[in-house]
Amino acid sequence: MRARTALAACSLAAAGYAACAGQDSASGGDRGDAHVATDARQPDPDGSIGLVPFCEAYKAMRTCRCCHFAEPPDGIGPFPLFTYEDTQQEYFGDPVYVRMRRALDTDFMPLVDSCDDDGVCVIDPPAKPLEPRCKQTLLDWIDQGALPVGGTTCDPDLSCQADIGCNPQRP
Ligand code: HEC
Repeated sequence: MRARTALAACSLAAAGYAACAGQDSASGGDRGDAHVATDARQPDPDGSIGLVPFCEAYKAMRTCRCCHFAEPPDGIGPFPLFTYEDTQQEYFGDPVYVRMRRALDTDFMPLVDSCDDDGVCVIDPPAKPLEPRCKQTLLDWIDQGALPVGGTTCDPDLSCQADIGCNPQRP
């Protein structure tokens, strides 16, 4: 990961992700490498896209926290998705983020249960599907290695999309 000017990174990534200000490594506690140097979205060596900060992925995962809030039997999903560490756990032989990629790609997740046909709901109100740009943010974050870019202390009340349908649990 070559360090380029923060300006270049900002202008490249400005369309997709949060404003450039305040995305430095102040939150700390991460792998201390160039990924979290001065700006969370340094372009890849080919200059194409900026790195997705973990907290942007976390915003897109707000829907997931309607069900993935504890291990069963308390949780509805099979594992919690509250923290960065939760995304790195192993689940049936794969890191959770690898499973996430497959589940997102096939639209298996977020589980959308309309509650209509039989009146039995997984959750009520049901989750809404991810908006395409939110799904893409998550896929990009995973494809970039599911890194703790920009720090892993995120506000659980921020959301990628305005209406997720369901009621998320808080960590
Ligand atoms: C309505 C509840 C609900 C929501 C919302 C939800 N999940 Fe799930 N999730 C489940 C349940 C239940 C399972 C277990 C399904 C099974 O194994 O058949 C599951 C399983 C999974 C798995 C494991 C799939 C595998 O490989 O076996 C992943 C990964 C996952 N969810 C990710 C997510 C992500 C990411 C989101 C948010 C974008 C999300 N889920 C939203 C209920 C939910």
